[in-house]
Amino acid sequence: MRAPPPHPDAVGIILAAGRGRRMRSRRPKPLHCAAGKPLIRYPVELLNQCGVERVVVVTSPDNRNAIAGLLGDGVGYAVQAHPDGTADALACGLAALASLPPLVVVLAGDTPLVRAESVRKLLAEHAAAAGRRMSILSAADVFADDLGRIERAGVASAGRVGPVTAIVEAADRGHASPGPAEVNTGVYCFDGPWLAELITQVPRAPSGERYLTALAAMAVAAGDDIAAVPVALADEALGVNDRQQLAAVTTVLRDRINCHWMAAGVTILDTATTYIDAGVVIGADTVLLPNTMLAGHTVIGEECEIGPNSLIRDTAVGDRCRIVASVLEGARVQSDVSIGPYSHLRPDALIERGAHLGNYVEVKNSRVGAGTAAGHFCYLGDADIGQGVNIGAGAITCNYDGVDKHQTTIGDGAFIGSDTMLIAPVTVGHGAATGAGAVVTKDIPNAGRAVGVPARLLPPKEND
Ligand code: UD1
Ligand code: MG
Repeated sequence: MRAPPPHPDAVGIILAAGRGRRMRSRRPKPLHCAAGKPLIRYPVELLNQCGVERVVVVTSPDNRNAIAGLLGDGVGYAVQAHPDGTADALACGLAALASLPPLVVVLAGDTPLVRAESVRKLLAEHAAAAGRRMSILSAADVFADDLGRIERAGVASAGRVGPVTAIVEAADRGHASPGPAEVNTGVYCFDGPWLAELITQVPRAPSGERYLTALAAMAVAAGDDIAAVPVALADEALGVNDRQQLAAVTTVLRDRINCHWMAAGVTILDTATTYIDAGVVIGADTVLLPNTMLAGHTVIGEECEIGPNSLIRDTAVGDRCRIVASVLEGARVQSDVSIGPYSHLRPDALIERGAHLGNYVEVKNSRVGAGTAAGHFCYLGDADIGQGVNIGAGAITCNYDGVDKHQTTIGDGAFIGSDTMLIAPVTVGHGAATGAGAVVTKDIPNAGRAVGVPARLLPPKEND
């Protein structure tokens, strides 16, 4: 039986209904990707990692379908009719709940650097303080002019800081606040009933929006207990409001991902030119050479050598493979395969154990059997190629007649001569051979030999 979540009394609310105007994009901001993962997935996964299983995402009417299409039924949804500010968005999230939970955890949809261990710490400190109404996840010593700043009473002394008095938004402090400061990450824990009562009372800021961050000063004025809990890494506070911040956040994520895999036993020769998406898995003792991009849901086995100059997307690669300067997309590669330089595996290419694809080989929707070699420029599309086949330089499966795609089948142990054109649909039997330059329009039986244009069958060899 599954262990119950550590916070069964909590609901997580993710605010993702903002206009995201600063992105200057047709695509809703929560669907922009950092390290190959849509921004909105980060807070959803983070809440699950923290044991908060009931999650509501607040969307706008415009991005509702796109976000629900991505996240599915695992979370609930609320719609904020107008982007009236984060307080209004949170009120919409609360209104969508069937019952009010004792604990509400709030995250933004645009802060993918917040780490689960920081939110766990926030949850623990919030729970430990009896009567605490609001706990804010903050980050100290951050240079970021567009973030809300935590104001505290008194001056820091003897390692102690004064209590939080307010969160002051960039728009409300003008431009005269340079220098590092303690800032608001946009992650909070609230006492549920307290929040439900106060959220409707948040006044409009001069911008016309109602800021969730105003709750801090409101709580202090009412004598309620609030606190800010600083994160360990200052970069956790960085959010994505524009494309420059998207790049900055992606750089931090990339660095974290590279460090994770190096700690797991992967060698990365040049971290500055190695890009590994969040969804990638890599086995120990694999070496990544410069200019390598592992994207999407790629899985790489152990003791491989990848790169230099390779892009591998949504592809599974076995152990001990070597992939040089090649592009692999939606493919499966078994163990002990070598590929490249300059090969291209397209969707549904299956390269079986020990096969070799050399220079300029393109494979699409085809099986290349175990131990088969295609050493030099060729195209293999819609083909089922058996084991131990030799594909000569320049061979092509002519799979497209201008209207339909057709299948080529090549039996085990066949020998396809250089520059052979296989006009599909066509079958080359087990152990059959084609001569250089053959244009094969008819099936070749097992052990048969065909030469010429169009290819004609040769009589069996004397000693056959
Ligand atoms: C917000 C905080 C700021 C904090 C920063 C951290 C407010 C007023 N400010 O600023 O203190 O330092 O996050 O990244 O909360 N949203 C809605 N509906 C709205 C407006 C926003 O759902 O009407 C959502 C956005 O989609 C976004 C999140 O709330 O995911 C934060 O909004 P955003 O406009 O990015 O606020 P920031 O300026 O980043
Ligand atoms: Mg933001």
